[in-house]
Amino acid sequence: MTAGRGTVRAAGIERRGAAADIHPLELPHPRCGPGQVLLRVSAVAVNHVDTFVRSGTYPTELAFPVAVGRDAVGVIEAVGDRVDGFAVGQQAWTNSLGFAGRPGATAEVVAVDVERTYPLPAGVDPVAAAAALHPCATAALAVDRHGALERGETVYVAGGAGQVGSAALVVAAARGARVLASAAAADAGYCRGLGAWTVLDYRDGELAARLREAAPGGIDVQIDTSGHNDLETAVELAAPRGRIVVLSGPASAPVLPAGKLYMRDASVRGFAISNATVDELARAARTVNTMLAGRQWEPRHVLERSFADASWAHAQLEAGNVRGARIVLVPPKTAG
Ligand SMILES: NC(=O)c1ccc[n+]([C@@H]2O[C@H](COP(=O)([O-])OP(=O)(O)OC[C@H]3O[C@@H](n4cnc5c(N)ncnc54)[C@H](OP(=O)(O)O)[C@@H]3O)[C@@H](O)[C@H]2O)c1
Repeated sequence: MTAGRGTVRAAGIERRGAAADIHPLELPHPRCGPGQVLLRVSAVAVNHVDTFVRSGTYPTELAFPVAVGRDAVGVIEAVGDRVDGFAVGQQAWTNSLGFAGRPGATAEVVAVDVERTYPLPAGVDPVAAAAALHPCATAALAVDRHGALERGETVYVAGGAGQVGSAALVVAAARGARVLASAAAADAGYCRGLGAWTVLDYRDGELAARLREAAPGGIDVQIDTSGHNDLETAVELAAPRGRIVVLSGPASAPVLPAGKLYMRDASVRGFAISNATVDELARAARTVNTMLAGRQWEPRHVLERSFADASWAHAQLEAGNVRGARIVLVPPKTAG
């Protein structure tokens, strides 16, 4: 695919639909409006949520035709009026594209609101950064904003070896919490290496009893990244004023024991990163940049493909074929 004058190459959709509906697009070269930067995209992540936006499972405004994808890392190509703190040539990232009417990430150049743009720490590889952004930002929101985790508290991350779960272990350990995790037995060492004190096999039929032994005073913050959302057990395990963070399993319909919940002042807090405010995203971005700069967390495997593989990438994610890996798309090479 070759871009015509005044256009950029992209991968996207003209209506909500299946992964197979993603195809190459040629979009008008974006204008850099006031309060915006133009980002020449180096790498784009493929996330579960991108498939939800594409299919309509997550309802949001889309201005068709639209490129798919929300997280992009790139180089600033132009800076609009009323923009301070960013310069042409600087590496930057955003995780706010492709929903709420904003253009999508899988395009050679994209206009980004500066309030949703963050500097990339020096020396960080753009592909590695793109892979890490979504799990790290989600983990930061889950632990800090919605879990309100405090030093010395006990946190339990179900699915501690997954992308969001493993990033959450790192954030929680950095906050000085006592970190419990569940994972497949083969992933116990991985979770311990990221800061989990106790790792339990999620296939163990006695998991709830073992968690009770590990946290006799109850668990202050519970984060289930597996989407199972067993709230009956979670409420049983909650400490007084415990927070149960729900972030996955869009089709799950758990039973909530309301009496036990309110009698221990516990709460269930759902969140989707798409609803995060600009301030919440900026706070999470500071944590993400600390994690990137210190190489505190990165995915175990990154599959690097080109924009032309966007349809394939969505299909792979939806089929559950990318266990333990993150897919990152890079733009096509420019001729000449
Ligand atoms: N709300 C938000 O803003 C937000 C943002 C990002 C992601 N998410 C959602 O978060 C979820 C996790 O995303 P991810 O990228 O971290 O996925 P992932 O890497 O597949 O992680 C899920 C983890 O759950 C584990 N698991 C499976 N069954 C389990 C069980 N019964 N008990 C405990 N753990 C179990 C899996 O272990 P195995 O590998 O051994 O199967 C895996 O490690 C997805 O549903 C995603 O859509 C939500």
